Amino acid sequence: MATLKEKLITPIAAGSTVPNNKITLVGVGQVGMACAISILGKGLCDELALVDVLEDKLKGEMMDLQHGSLFLQAHKIVADKVDILTYVTWKLSGLPKHRVIGSGCNLDTARFRYLMAERLGIHPTSCHGWILGEHGDSSVAVWSGVNVAGVTLQELNPAMGTDKDSENWKEVHKQVVESAYEVIRLKGYTNWAIGLSVAQLCETMLKNLCRVHSVSTLVKGMYGIENDVFLSLPAVLNSSGLTNVINQKLKDDEVAQLKKSAATLWNIQKDIKDL
Ligand SMILES: *[C@@H]1O[C@H](CO)[C@@H](O)[C@H](O)[C@H]1NC(C)=O
Repeated sequence: MATLKEKLITPIAAGSTVPNNKITLVGVGQVGMACAISILGKGLCDELALVDVLEDKLKGEMMDLQHGSLFLQAHKIVADKVDILTYVTWKLSGLPKHRVIGSGCNLDTARFRYLMAERLGIHPTSCHGWILGEHGDSSVAVWSGVNVAGVTLQELNPAMGTDKDSENWKEVHKQVVESAYEVIRLKGYTNWAIGLSVAQLCETMLKNLCRVHSVSTLVKGMYGIENDVFLSLPAVLNSSGLTNVINQKLKDDEVAQLKKSAATLWNIQKDIKDL
């Protein structure tokens, strides 16, 4: 007796079972799920795999997303508990450095451009500026490069970014640093913006777009930095990974801040023997 499915469907060829674009997310907490929904919303993958050690939470999140399949473009959403092997492989992957990319200052840069956009009444995609260095307190705002349509704002207000600035643009950078703490104070964690920014990085790589992002890479040898530290610089991403870094013409004080950022990290890092 033919089943309903057999009556409905005439098979022509057996296809490949290997997905074209599979994204695996480790961790289904607030950040992981924000990444998941942002990635699914952009239709970036044909298979999304969720991994976590909390089995009930994992299954619940998987089912909840699967129920949304009608509204999504991913064919398959799967879940697995931490597959120890995957984890160990990942930890000890020994992946070449261009395949190990930290989301770094991509979100800090997005926050900066949003705040700049609010001041100017122009969409963030048209407000250009870069936050480099360490994600967090010692990050560096590259005031010399802040521009709209190629108009360098520091030429219009030479005090921009300094303490002497009557418009206090420095506050914008301060807000970038503080806003994460502010959101955490108010809602307990941050997730949406980091999820969206991770999805943007995935998009650049999966679609081989060669867009430039402020993400962290091994910066030894650049701007006179001598230690093995990962800091954010404007980097070109494509489907091979992080392949090129843009050499920004930084001012002396900006280089000094970047070096200070490197030193801060190195001081923490040098005491870590085995990861
Ligand atoms: C990514 O960029 C690098 C450097 O420009 C290039 O060698 C590589 O072929 C690119 N990868 C792909 C998949 O296009």
